Amino acid sequence: MQIAIDGPAGAGKSTIAKKIARDLGFVYIDSGALYRAVALLALQEDQPPEEGPGLAAFLDQLTLDLTTDQAGQQQVWANGEDVTEAIRDNAVSQRVSAYSALPPVRQLVTDRIQDLAAQADVVMDGRDIGTVVLPAADLKIFLTASVEERARRRVDQLASQGDQVSFETIAQEIADRDEKDRQRAVAPLVQAADAVYLDSSHMGIEEVSEYILGLIRK
Ligand code: C5P
Repeated sequence: MQIAIDGPAGAGKSTIAKKIARDLGFVYIDSGALYRAVALLALQEDQPPEEGPGLAAFLDQLTLDLTTDQAGQQQVWANGEDVTEAIRDNAVSQRVSAYSALPPVRQLVTDRIQDLAAQADVVMDGRDIGTVVLPAADLKIFLTASVEERARRRVDQLASQGDQVSFETIAQEIADRDEKDRQRAVAPLVQAADAVYLDSSHMGIEEVSEYILGLIRK
């Protein structure tokens, strides 16, 4: 069984997807984590977001993997290194869309996550899961929330980690990333025709996940 959850940045996709996967005993696959891993390594190796022989060589030697540790936490690997924490860096968030717009990058990540999805029942989240990666998914959700609400949640999350950031800065970063993800030529962020639209601006995590679990049980 395959559940696809797509939507813009900060809509709560990963929190909801993880919870649903845990409840159902499915494997959670965070496709954005692999795009982030590509961007992180590219930034470390001074590989600009441009197609060409340099990018091809960089991608050729890149290995990506997702594993789950004993506590059920997902770990992200790039070239054998644990990059789980490093990919959440704000510098990566701001640059990742430039890399994820490149067709060879999309091909690499799409092949990898399709392989992973072939091995288990999965809940996968991202931008193009219902449209491109798993077009035959059993259930597709398009999860969104207003930019203000998504920025507020992100500011609260950062504050709880001791990072004080301005609401305006975060709201602008989220809006910029959405715009780039929506406008790209290949596999843009768009709701699949057969996806269920869910605006979580006024819904809590429990409510959203119960609603989706209800759809799955149906
Ligand atoms: O989900 P997350 O915010 O971690 O994704 C980071 C970035 O990876 C997105 O902004 C987007 O550019 C890219 N992405 C994508 N397609 C996906 C998942 C993520 O292009 N399926």
